[in-house]
Amino acid sequence: MSTFNLNVDVNHNGDVKNADSLCTLDDIDDIDFSKLLEKPRPLNIERLRSLDERSLTELSGSPQLRNGDNASRVHDHADYVVSPSVGRRSGFNTPRSQHGFESHPMVGEAWDALRRSMVYFRGQPVGTIAAVDNSEEKLNYDQVFVRDFVPSALAFLMNGEPEIVRNFLLKTLRLQSWEKKIDRFQLGEGVMPASFKVFHDPVRNHETLIADFGESAIGRVAPVDSGFWWIILLRAYTKSTGDSSLADMPECQKGMRLILSLCLSEGFDTFPTLLCADGCCMIDRRMGVYGYPIEIQALFFMALRCALLLLKQDGEGKEMVEQIVKRLHALSYHMRSYFWLDLKQLNDIYRYKTEEYSHTAVNKFNVIPDSLPEWVFDFMPHHGGFFIGNVSPARMDFRWFAMGNCIAILSSLATPEQSTAIMDLIEARWEELVGEMPLKVCYPAIESHEWRIVTGCDPKNTRWSYHNGGSWPVLLWLLTAACIKTGRPQIARRAIEVAEARLHKDHWPEYYDGKVGRYVGKQARKCQTWSIAGYLVAKMMLEDPSHVGMVALEEDKQMKPVMRRSNSWNC
Ligand code: GLC
Repeated sequence: MSTFNLNVDVNHNGDVKNADSLCTLDDIDDIDFSKLLEKPRPLNIERLRSLDERSLTELSGSPQLRNGDNASRVHDHADYVVSPSVGRRSGFNTPRSQHGFESHPMVGEAWDALRRSMVYFRGQPVGTIAAVDNSEEKLNYDQVFVRDFVPSALAFLMNGEPEIVRNFLLKTLRLQSWEKKIDRFQLGEGVMPASFKVFHDPVRNHETLIADFGESAIGRVAPVDSGFWWIILLRAYTKSTGDSSLADMPECQKGMRLILSLCLSEGFDTFPTLLCADGCCMIDRRMGVYGYPIEIQALFFMALRCALLLLKQDGEGKEMVEQIVKRLHALSYHMRSYFWLDLKQLNDIYRYKTEEYSHTAVNKFNVIPDSLPEWVFDFMPHHGGFFIGNVSPARMDFRWFAMGNCIAILSSLATPEQSTAIMDLIEARWEELVGEMPLKVCYPAIESHEWRIVTGCDPKNTRWSYHNGGSWPVLLWLLTAACIKTGRPQIARRAIEVAEARLHKDHWPEYYDGKVGRYVGKQARKCQTWSIAGYLVAKMMLEDPSHVGMVALEEDKQMKPVMRRSNSWNC
């Protein structure tokens, strides 16, 4: 019944680039990321000091906060904007890019496919459909997913086409104000949809939007990540275009406040992390990611930092900024202390005493060393570390999750040392995490009895398939951004090469199965839009690393790395 206007009309625009952004592939290895973020943009906006550069501590005691001086609000986007939208660029007719880079033939094909996935509402582009695969039963893959649209949006922004991103942000914001109900229960005002579609009424010849906030989703879980992605995308749009008028709109300010109010409200929590149900993020089925999953915590942290850059400090905004600053401090302390795992920490946990009482306890969550899985001892390299999947009372989920670790690097939730360690681990465990298709959504898979208990016998999430240790090409953009931010683009280049050997030939599958990702996923859609967009974004970031500034935040120097207490005997 519903129709999508798929745009097959493509602009063959020329490729215009700033001479100062020219660099060769070899140059990228020597790039200092902090310099990239400081790249001045050629727009005539008064240069203000960036919030990226300002400390949270400074902010919490700042006169702006105390006086609510709106005029002195700091715009990071007023400071510097990456990849100025001076011209549109597409892969079409550009077998060789104009900057000395060899453009892979797949790039043009990918742009074609991405444009075919565009969804129009009353004549305006508003998003991209999840998969243009007519061979499979559609389920909800004919919808525009908020999380799936992010790499598409970044591709369009990097190509100097912000209109679709602006429309998407405004349309989803309108959807937020809908009344949301599951049976007789009303969801929080700030919840953003997981997805939406355009409904065409042929009788009235009229189009309307239909959104899903979890009330139609398999499992009926509301997407916690959608709101965070919305804020992160609003900041990427603002940074990329230098246009702060969208974020400044009272509707956008309110939208951000509503999203964050859901997460910052006081309750029974004893941790600054966000408690959530299984399946509320990219892994949208039961996979043991309930509680405090790393993906949500990292996105929460990033969204808080982006909101801090975008929120006006007037009446309600001021109060929220104060709450955000406090939460960021607590959240970074908690995550860096308790979610971090490296060889030393692993050894400490292995020797943990249990049943400790009072505030002097070292093993605060009473994790029983016997719960350490066998695989983690072999997986942990000498050099390297990662944020584990989940930490809650007596439970540490030691699985490695790609999205959470990459977002931790991009948002600077990870300290520079931790970011380096995450990359070291990816290099050291290349076969396991990248193998024949980047990148494992999580590692390792759960099997047998554990699979039965954890997934509820989910036949789609069998071992090394889909969310259970499957390999997802979309994650390539996150890996590439993290590589560039940590100054190691050669890792991304290797991963992209691996993907290029198969992605297009296999028709851009949603995911791959098997221990090393050798097989096209059992139920994977073909022409999955975020696989296509993820590849394009990865390529464009390698070509012009300054693009990474759209999705990366510099470290806040005042959020000191924590001194971790150890129960090992110090001589
Ligand atoms: C799958 C993924 C989810 C994605 C959706 C649409 O359900 O798990 O993250 O948003 O497909 O592509």
